[in-house]
Amino acid sequence: MKTAYRTHTNGALRLTDVGAAVTLCGWIQRSRDLGGMTFVDLRDRYGITQLVFNMETDAALCGRIRELGRECVIQVDGKVLERSNKNPKLPTGDIEVEVTRLEVLNRSKTPPFTIEDNTDGGDELRMKYRYLDLRRACVRANMEMRHRLGIEIRNYMNTLGFMEVETPFLVKSTPEGARDFVVPSRMNEGEFYALPQSPQTLKQLLMVSGFDRYFQLVRCFRDEDLRADRQPEFTQLDCEMSFVTQEDVLSTFEGLIAHLFKKEKGIDIGPLPRMTWKEAMENYGSDKPDIRFDMRFKPLNAVLKQGVFGVLDQAEWIGAIAVPGAAEYTRKQLDELTDFVKRPQVGASGLMYIKCLPDGTFKSSIDKYYTPEQIQAAAAAAEAKAGDLVLILCGATRKTQVALGQLRLEMGSRLGLRDPQNYKLLWVVDFPLLEWDEEAQRFFAMHHPFTSPKPEDEALLESDPGAVRANAYDMVINGVEVGGGSIRIHDRDLQNRMFRALGFSDEEAQLQFGFLMGAFEYGAPPHGGIAFGFDRLCSLFGGAESIRDFIAFPKNNAGRDTMLDAPSTIAQAQLDELKIKTVK
Ligand code: AMO
Repeated sequence: MKTAYRTHTNGALRLTDVGAAVTLCGWIQRSRDLGGMTFVDLRDRYGITQLVFNMETDAALCGRIRELGRECVIQVDGKVLERSNKNPKLPTGDIEVEVTRLEVLNRSKTPPFTIEDNTDGGDELRMKYRYLDLRRACVRANMEMRHRLGIEIRNYMNTLGFMEVETPFLVKSTPEGARDFVVPSRMNEGEFYALPQSPQTLKQLLMVSGFDRYFQLVRCFRDEDLRADRQPEFTQLDCEMSFVTQEDVLSTFEGLIAHLFKKEKGIDIGPLPRMTWKEAMENYGSDKPDIRFDMRFKPLNAVLKQGVFGVLDQAEWIGAIAVPGAAEYTRKQLDELTDFVKRPQVGASGLMYIKCLPDGTFKSSIDKYYTPEQIQAAAAAAEAKAGDLVLILCGATRKTQVALGQLRLEMGSRLGLRDPQNYKLLWVVDFPLLEWDEEAQRFFAMHHPFTSPKPEDEALLESDPGAVRANAYDMVINGVEVGGGSIRIHDRDLQNRMFRALGFSDEEAQLQFGFLMGAFEYGAPPHGGIAFGFDRLCSLFGGAESIRDFIAFPKNNAGRDTMLDAPSTIAQAQLDELKIKTVK
């Protein structure tokens, strides 16, 4: 790291360097003026070195350093000394540098927040001054980890014969999936490119080209509502393979993820369990179940439909979770849970409970409808033990399962069962091919329209489309969908049938996806693949929920970059050139 400006970085010097004459550069992290001595922590990407300015040796130099505030950039010459007061927390904590020359390379205004791991800066402020936020060691460590994972991925994929190919960012808008970000074309008046939501069709074309094994760490763009694990632009590890079955894809990428866990975390993840989509929905109310804790659903239809309580008698599905050790929940806590399930995002109309008290008795919100024996039977069906709290929801099957799934996660969090460093991975397989949309009154592809049906279900594509299962799979880590993929359709006729099932006329399909279906007529090999959310992988490895901390310059929840102030209006001249009329 030696350059014309410095002999060492601020993380380099050790006891073996004592006596050496060195030149260091960096930012003033903090200084402590002790009268006779001034100590300065000098920081750069590599660490912190303590500088000492001695009044007795050079009073003028001491005077100059005292004038400088935090974050000024300085260069110093000095001599490495052994510290009398060693700091075991710092790799350079055995030494200090007694300064003989000081040059101010640049001054700094007082930063709007302290550049420390525990900063006083709020989210908005840190995003506005992201370049300062990135100076904080904890944020930089996230970016360093992202870099390491990227390098590991590239090396691993290369070893397996995958070739990285760049695909274009200015592509064609497609009606399926999320909303596109569009870019007007100056040279083609009234026409627009779209930024790719993923390189899906392009990687399939590369298989038609015979590339056999492709990967790309690639930016994707989706104009969708943002959450902690969603950004409008994000990075995928996108992969595709030819002449493979689902089994080949799963084992290849299980290998990759196991390798990353071993390298980065020193953890052996072992073989990944598999769960069908149906099992996931019925037991966890989610297609990305968090299996760090149990609390699986228990259906109570058989025990609670007794013709005594109309709400339950009329419900399509009654399900319960047994929350361990929560029988002592107070009225207030139960009210909080009721409010939680009634929130529009969860959407349940109410919450019922049975407290299984330690003395073997029961106390329930539905006491007045059922006999004590019936309540006891419900608790038994929920597999609750003395001390547990049984929480019950009822209603339309899928909607209620999803709501109970959210309640299960909430209870897992409340009981501290969702330790981010306890990694539980699984594959969810056998997704339905199509999903009915009430609003649009048509089927949508659950994964995407290029996913192949399971051969044994193919015949149902016209007669019972909702029953067709797909050759599709997701990798789930700690309740987060980190990756998803499928075996693709490679036959033009089957692709046509799929588009018809999605409600496309042959002309519409030809207009939108003619390029792909045309390619299928030139010897498309059987192929399949997967894409991982790289930002999500990084945040999971970092034990964090938000992917923002692992992206150098992320957008806020309104999709804005507050540092660049984007999006922004553009000059009328630019609009005119693009022939775009804005209506105020
Ligand atoms: P899918 O849409 O499931 O599949 O995306 C793959 C993975 O990308 C991540 N991801 C996101 N990460 C951050 N912000 C977002 N807005 C976002 N959206 C998705 C998720 C997800 O699992 N072409 C297919 C893959 C294939 O079939 O090979 C695709 O894009 O971790």
